[in-house]
Amino acid sequence: MTVHIGAAPGDIAETVLMPGDPYRAKWAAETFLEDVKLVNEVRGMLGFTGMWKGHRVTIQGSGMGMPSLSIYANELIRDYGAKTLIRIGSCGGMQKQVSIRDVIIAMTASSISTPSTGIFRELNFAPCADYGLLRAAADAAQVKGITTHIGGIYSSDVFYDERPDLNEQMTRHGILGVEMEAAELYNLAARHSVRALAVLTVSDHLQTGEALPSEDRERSFGDMIDIALTAAFT
Ligand code: HPA
Repeated sequence: MTVHIGAAPGDIAETVLMPGDPYRAKWAAETFLEDVKLVNEVRGMLGFTGMWKGHRVTIQGSGMGMPSLSIYANELIRDYGAKTLIRIGSCGGMQKQVSIRDVIIAMTASSISTPSTGIFRELNFAPCADYGLLRAAADAAQVKGITTHIGGIYSSDVFYDERPDLNEQMTRHGILGVEMEAAELYNLAARHSVRALAVLTVSDHLQTGEALPSEDRERSFGDMIDIALTAAFT
């Protein structure tokens, strides 16, 4: 047990999928895994371990924002030995060619700050995905025929953003979408020599104002989870 995860030693798999929403962790585990066991419910941040095509997987909620993700990712890596961490979540589209329901695979994650800013100080560290996972996810998306964009995303500290000029700069520089967790996941993976990737579903669009209707969410999120699981075990 750690401060925030009640799982017994050995209850967490080396491969962990991390949705922000603990109820999405429950849905994903019940939908995709067999022999599912609830391994964490501390603070309602549900975590489940089960089997996918003969491979052991944990799906653990991260909460929203980098400080929350940092707590769970640190404990998963440092205390439970997680070696592959894949964020599965939603993001806001920032480019014309990116549509609602599309999948974005984050090659890099830009930010204004992350929980690691204090240790990087003047260093502008470039958080990036694990190349093997990225390539496997890109291949899986292609085989499954899922419309997928691969490139840089923006990990924001705020959902209610008061800086439209910053979003304009991101868009001008080709950033595909905005979410709130990936940059710190990539920082932590680099620090601890583990593999990380973020596979995201576009749930809303900053320019068009479109949003994914709730009845479409499950199918769209399923594509992303399928890609993440296939990539993890390629
Ligand atoms: N901003 C930040 N995070 C998000 C968004 C957004 O528009 N959509 C989904 N996650």
